[in-house]
Amino acid sequence: MSAEVKQPSRVVPEAEPTSAGTTVPMWLIAGMLVLLFLGAWYFDARGGWFEAKVYAPYHSLADVERFQPRSGGDAVLFRGKVLFEQNCALCHNPDGMGKPAQAPPLVGSEWVLAAGVNRLIRIPQLGLSGPIEVKGQVWNLPMAAMGVAYSDDDLAAVLSYIRNSWGNKASIVTGDQVKKVRAELGGRNQPYSPDELKKEAE
Ligand code: HEC
Repeated sequence: MSAEVKQPSRVVPEAEPTSAGTTVPMWLIAGMLVLLFLGAWYFDARGGWFEAKVYAPYHSLADVERFQPRSGGDAVLFRGKVLFEQNCALCHNPDGMGKPAQAPPLVGSEWVLAAGVNRLIRIPQLGLSGPIEVKGQVWNLPMAAMGVAYSDDDLAAVLSYIRNSWGNKASIVTGDQVKKVRAELGGRNQPYSPDELKKEAE
């Protein structure tokens, strides 16, 4: 058998392929012009032309968040967050996790999440000194009376915030509860020791 090697037949194109000349259809151009016009009109009507008064006072998303109108429980927690970040976060950290050798965590803390708030209110009102166990770990550093200058509502707000942030979930503290505890304390200004605090009703 003789194998005949066939040369592939080569097709030589006679001419470069061409395509029919196309133009952008008129309707597309007209459509784009209409859209452009509508866009400009919309911007003109609502954009405020970058007038500072229209865009102030927001400079960032955080600003916008800060200025949102709030009501009820939301407003209380937001007030609490501001106070917490001003006066507690330095030691307890903005995420409530505490700081080694500075302050114990508030996240998951049995002191923060207690069913009753009678002891909890006394902590920022008078401060704490002496060994305290939080989530199985013992701390022994003094905490000053960080909340003594707060109004009843502000102390309630900051405590409501720590009871309802970072995964913590517990009842809101009311200004009336704070008022009642403050009245019970009379003129006391000495910090509690955690052991003494435990003798108070939860
Ligand atoms: C200067 C640092 C510092 C600041 C500021 C501070 N704390 Fe504390 N806090 C501590 C320390 C330290 C302890 C532990 C005290 C001890 O060892 O007896 C503590 C304990 C606590 C506890 C009980 C323990 C726990 O982890 O749950 C609570 C609740 C608490 N602080 C809330 C607050 C709140 C609310 C504020 C702000 C109003 C605040 N602290 C501000 C240092 C601080």
